[in-house]
Amino acid sequence: MKNRREFLKLTALTGGALLTQSACMPGETETSEDPGNQGNVSTAIQPIVISTWNHGIEANNAAWKVLSNGGNALDAVEQGVRVTESDPTNPSVGLGGAPDREGKVTLDACIMDHKNRCGAVAFLEHIENPISVARKVMEETEHVMLVGEGAFQFALEKGFEKTNLLTENSKKAWLNWLETSKYKPVINIENHDTIGLLAMDVEGNLSGACTTSGMAYKLRGRVGDSPIIGAGLFVDNEVGAACATGVGEAVIRIAGSAIVVELMRQGKSPQEACKEAVDRIIKKHDNVDNLQVGFIALNKQGEIGSYSVYSGFNFALKTENTEELTDAPYFIKHEESGD
Ligand code: GLY
Repeated sequence: MKNRREFLKLTALTGGALLTQSACMPGETETSEDPGNQGNVSTAIQPIVISTWNHGIEANNAAWKVLSNGGNALDAVEQGVRVTESDPTNPSVGLGGAPDREGKVTLDACIMDHKNRCGAVAFLEHIENPISVARKVMEETEHVMLVGEGAFQFALEKGFEKTNLLTENSKKAWLNWLETSKYKPVINIENHDTIGLLAMDVEGNLSGACTTSGMAYKLRGRVGDSPIIGAGLFVDNEVGAACATGVGEAVIRIAGSAIVVELMRQGKSPQEACKEAVDRIIKKHDNVDNLQVGFIALNKQGEIGSYSVYSGFNFALKTENTEELTDAPYFIKHEESGD
């Protein structure tokens, strides 16, 4: 893992290497027409994928398969996060996700593309890949969000299979919680919840996806930031994209991902924008005990950034030359984070 200094170096290198002047396949270059240039200048747009937490590594690989074959960012983000949703060992997304306090797994997801099209599902049960249902909402309805039973019926109509999402392991953990009943969210364990994935394709277009089973043992009916466009995820193809992880209530209160994108529009780097959003969360809460939130962002120039309230948040980055899991910079050092 990288420390903060290495992270900043990485950000600078990544940003410096990626230009968005014209559309080329990965590895292709264009010769500059500018007679002042001394030789070939690469103006190729290079695909880039960035996602939250270490589960992002595998998700990035799936997204990369799409992008490196010239596929678009929308397909890439969907294919990427589907991997995490279908992983039964991941207790915070999709199949095997921690249930609510009644023992029911309820999922939230949203997706957004370069044309500002977006789709979302919330409080969805029995469907392994909510991100694909969210995409269907975006592409095959007039609406942006479907929730609960309506979202489930819609999914069945679209051919999704009814699946039991409560694995033996997540059931055991829930029963244990019921017995001990001493619930309080634990930083970077129960707040280690969401996969948010942002991608830029060879056309320079941006898309994002965000999916989660939400906070472990939440009140039945609770929905966090992840399916809310502007909170858990926001994409503006003129500017950049951002997504969030952590305590969804805090992200919703500041319209977190939309704020990060707006700050980038005003000229902040992705890094500065993520930091300012975190600063805002800290300022707006009297008590940030156990309140972990992390943001990642990607701008149109291919620069990336991240920031979190507490240490322990990390993100996965994939480009043609890079495959990295990097510790995000943070505001408060969390003594149990292993730093
Ligand atoms: N960030 C995910 C949630 O709060 O549900």
